[in-house]
Amino acid sequence: MFHRQFSQSAAPVHWNVQRKEAHALLRRLLDTPEDLIEHLRHNAASVIMNVTYGINISSKGDRYITIAEKALAVKYIPEWAPGAGFRRKAREWKKAVREMRDAPFETTMDAIKEGTASPSFVLNLFQELEAESKDCLKNNIEVVKGCAGMSYAGGTESTLSALSSFVLAIILYPEVQEKAQEELDHLLDHSRLPDFLDRDSLPYINAIVKEVLRWSPVAPLGLPHMASEDDEYNGYFIPAGTTVVGNTWAILHNPITFPNPSVFNPDRFLVPGKLKTSSDPSPLDPLSATFGYGRRICPGRYMAGAQLWISIACILAVFDIKCGVDEDGRPVRPHPTFTSGLIR
Ligand code: HEM
Repeated sequence: MFHRQFSQSAAPVHWNVQRKEAHALLRRLLDTPEDLIEHLRHNAASVIMNVTYGINISSKGDRYITIAEKALAVKYIPEWAPGAGFRRKAREWKKAVREMRDAPFETTMDAIKEGTASPSFVLNLFQELEAESKDCLKNNIEVVKGCAGMSYAGGTESTLSALSSFVLAIILYPEVQEKAQEELDHLLDHSRLPDFLDRDSLPYINAIVKEVLRWSPVAPLGLPHMASEDDEYNGYFIPAGTTVVGNTWAILHNPITFPNPSVFNPDRFLVPGKLKTSSDPSPLDPLSATFGYGRRICPGRYMAGAQLWISIACILAVFDIKCGVDEDGRPVRPHPTFTSGLIR
């Protein structure tokens, strides 16, 4: 269900929402740039809630966002968390995770019954299943609910991570910002904001998106997979049931494929005037690793790619991102640090 609704060919369906939210992000950044991370989170959450449930997120403190953030806070608790309070906490978390799955879904189902539902993942699937048969709808609606619930969990923190890394990279590498703005100004002539149809005309912005996902992979070790049958790889026997962890970090920071891998350098994906293609040397596309592997590869990857692109292009078109300054007005160069865990 997920892969079909978020396929490459379906991605343009989400452009309107993504464009609107990118423009809203610009206004928020203009008003209160110091709340950067909050604005980026709001942007990611708004797009997901809109696309998945047809729900518009109002503002700070929105009910659905509060519910979801409470449920997702679970992942910050270390596995070894000791003590008798643990079972009580586990019960609370279970409740929070259920509520995250149920609350927005019920809102959409009510809207469907009243005939007021906006287009969304849930509405599409509901209509498809209903057209099939009443039984089909009854048997599958719980799956729809589960899939929809996964989209906030899968899509918010990951997009936030990538956009935060973008801002950090631009602060650390001001020459990248300059080149990007030259490209944007040349095409747009300060007369409008960039839009999705400009993608092919803005290779440097495309290269920035790739470099963000390579330089700071959102999930450096992906998600664990399991071998469903006995397998052999390069002479190693892998019995069925083995947990296999794809080392995305090692792939994307391999100095043979990506010389000076810790340097943020979008040019590594370019030949003069355009993006490298598979016929150019060393063209490994970070998108082939950063979104995971095989059947469980991120189903939101086309939507995520479009969202990173429009946000990054719009931000660079209207703002200069610079270091903050100290009391004496001197720029303070940040020392990058990252959180650990599944998502960086
Ligand atoms: C920059 C943004 C994103 C990155 C880097 C990212 C990355 C990933 C990765 C590495 C996985 C694990 C894949 C594997 O098991 O091999 C994953 C899974 C998943 N992602 Fe994303 N993701 C992003 C955005 C999104 C968005 C926007 C959505 C929703 C619309 C989404 C939905 C999901 C879901 C549902 C899964 C679980 C798939 C499954 O278990 O079969 N992701 N993502």
